[in-house]
Amino acid sequence: MTEKTILRALKGETLPTPPIWMMRQAGRYLPEYRATRAQAGDFLKLCYNPELAAEVTLQPIRRYGFDAAILFADILLLPQALGADLWFVTGEGPRLSTITDMAGVQALRPTADIHETLSPIYETVKILAQELPPQTTLIGFAGAPWTVATYMIAGRGTPDQAPAHKLKDTDRAAFAALIDRITDGTIEYLDAQIRAGAEVIKLFDSWAGSLKAQDFHDFALLPTKRIIAELKSRHPGIPIIAFPREAGDGYIGFAKATGADCVALDNSVTPEWGAANVQVDGCVQGNLASRHMVTGGQALVDETRQIVKAFSGGPHIFNLGHGITPDADPDNVSRMIDAVRGR
Ligand code: CP3
Repeated sequence: MTEKTILRALKGETLPTPPIWMMRQAGRYLPEYRATRAQAGDFLKLCYNPELAAEVTLQPIRRYGFDAAILFADILLLPQALGADLWFVTGEGPRLSTITDMAGVQALRPTADIHETLSPIYETVKILAQELPPQTTLIGFAGAPWTVATYMIAGRGTPDQAPAHKLKDTDRAAFAALIDRITDGTIEYLDAQIRAGAEVIKLFDSWAGSLKAQDFHDFALLPTKRIIAELKSRHPGIPIIAFPREAGDGYIGFAKATGADCVALDNSVTPEWGAANVQVDGCVQGNLASRHMVTGGQALVDETRQIVKAFSGGPHIFNLGHGITPDADPDNVSRMIDAVRGR
């Protein structure tokens, strides 16, 4: 069998048609997802139910034939496994118990204990490794330490990550200790996903854009580099996609500096800029604005074709610049796929 297209792109091959998948491809815009979530009870019960989590992971593969499936889980399960309380408020988002000082960091559970909570996630991966079509790549993931820390410190999503910046700037030792604990946990969590059958790993650093200069280097770049080095030493050749969202100039050289095989671009940068500044170092992923999945029309087709064209000179995995939103029209996803595949 010829190698899976996503894995070929991640090795640096320029393909005539870029492989495609979509962030949050299993999600509320799909009626079949909403039905399975209702069956599970709520979002967290769905994450921890291997059969149903595998089912929602497979739904967008059946409907659209994407080239990759991403494990259905959440970046906030690791904080929960480390001892944080976690719940989701419908219509608002996640809530966690907060960490405000060194005592809070020291009260976290030992890294080795995370598997007690996370073992159902590894079961989901095992089911998917069995059930996915042979051409579909299975992507495992975790949050990058800075982004996970922003939720653990604030106890919720924040527009400017102010509580995390405050801890970083006023109690550097506690903040750095928290980043280290998350980094250690992330390594063990992703190692277990790979052993269960994940073929690619993606690190989501959704709030990387709020770190600047030295902070970006210390808390976005270095923890990512440590995770990648450790995973690659345990699993030689495991491909890794880094997503330092809205990093701006921080995208330049990020793959080389961290050892990532691919850098995912958000839509704050143009594909032409991405090709000239990031794709020169290897594979890139991205970067259609997710609003086109809501608004559709000719703009969706034109923008999709422009992105494919801009990245056609090197390795590229087509994706959105961020997750698809619940108000998206499932038919627009088909239109995007047709435009990518030249239909
Ligand atoms: O992409 C996928 O389809 C795989 C599953 C996945 C989810 N979350 C499922 C989810 C992945 C990879 C994530 C990553 C994630 N989770 C990130 C990083 C990527 C990003 O979006 O920036 C972050 C920051 C989180 C934390 C999180 N989870 C928030 C802030 C929220 C609430 C916002 C929202 O969209 O509702 C979630 C909930 C969540 N995670 C949902 C899904 C499908 C919606 C939950 C529901 O069904 O009600």
